Amino acid sequence: MTASSNATASPRRILLTGAAGGLGKVLRQTLKPYASLLRLSDIVEPQAPGENEEVVVCDLADKAAVDQMVKGMDAILHFGGVSVERPFEEILGPNISGTYHIYEAARRHKVGRVIFASSNHVIGFYKQTETIDALAPRRPDGYYGLSKSYGEDLATFYFDRYGIETLSIRIGSSFPEPQNRRMLSTWLSYDDLTQLIVKGLDAPELGHTVVFGMSDNPHVWWDNRLAAHLGYEPQDSSERFRAKVEEQPQPAADDPAALYHGGAFVAQGPFEEV
Ligand SMILES: NC(=O)c1ccc[n+]([C@@H]2O[C@H](COP(=O)([O-])OP(=O)(O)OC[C@H]3O[C@@H](n4cnc5c(N)ncnc54)[C@H](O)[C@@H]3O)[C@@H](O)[C@H]2O)c1
Repeated sequence: MTASSNATASPRRILLTGAAGGLGKVLRQTLKPYASLLRLSDIVEPQAPGENEEVVVCDLADKAAVDQMVKGMDAILHFGGVSVERPFEEILGPNISGTYHIYEAARRHKVGRVIFASSNHVIGFYKQTETIDALAPRRPDGYYGLSKSYGEDLATFYFDRYGIETLSIRIGSSFPEPQNRRMLSTWLSYDDLTQLIVKGLDAPELGHTVVFGMSDNPHVWWDNRLAAHLGYEPQDSSERFRAKVEEQPQPAADDPAALYHGGAFVAQGPFEEV
């Protein structure tokens, strides 16, 4: 095992994968104050670079291209890949090989810190009547959740073996506002997501820390005490959207959206090969 890195060293050159995606576009703006250089990458061309920005079009499944993309960076925010449930064959390249390529490149280029966009779908099969912490066994709810679970395993391995530190954020639902009843529990505001990332970059010691990415919502199923060292203090709450969300019809009692942490994802598939 090697010593942990100090991510607060400046200048801070940060690679953001998934930069053309929903969260990537937001983080590109909110993270500006925390980076001396933001290298923005995606398989589709992100918007043209502004001041202190670079753009790299790269397929995460391409190991050599990922290696070049990571060169010269101090930290990686790994948000790229397939972000919904899909057949295994579609997940394999971007999420499974892709995340491996990110860690291999981090090792080769001595990047000490990764913020990994993990997902609640790593533990999606827990019932909404159960409250869990980060030590609860993972219960992935599909191939997408399995790929994020593998990403968390990579994070543990690359810390144990090479000292590369990771904050895995099991993002709940990060959108401008909660869109349904389940999201009243799982919602993560963009500001709170940004705070989590910055805490992950600044923490003196991270090892591999797993944190549930949720705002200060009143009724939650996740306990973040094991990530208390981050000092994360969410500033938003889904409560102000409750009345609006509750105008929607109640889901049926046996609807997965009302039963499982992972909601509708638990009932997707199988994906039959024809
Ligand atoms: N938004 C949420 O609520 C939420 C919840 C849980 C986890 N996450 C995770 O956060 C990350 C960002 O989520 P998002 O909502 O912005 O998703 P998104 O689908 O909008 O963005 C993902 C980006 O990854 C890119 N991508 C896909 N395949 C690629 C490949 N082979 N090579 C390079 N880039 C590729 C896509 O082009 C896209 O721009 C994802 O990893 C997602 O799994 C998001």
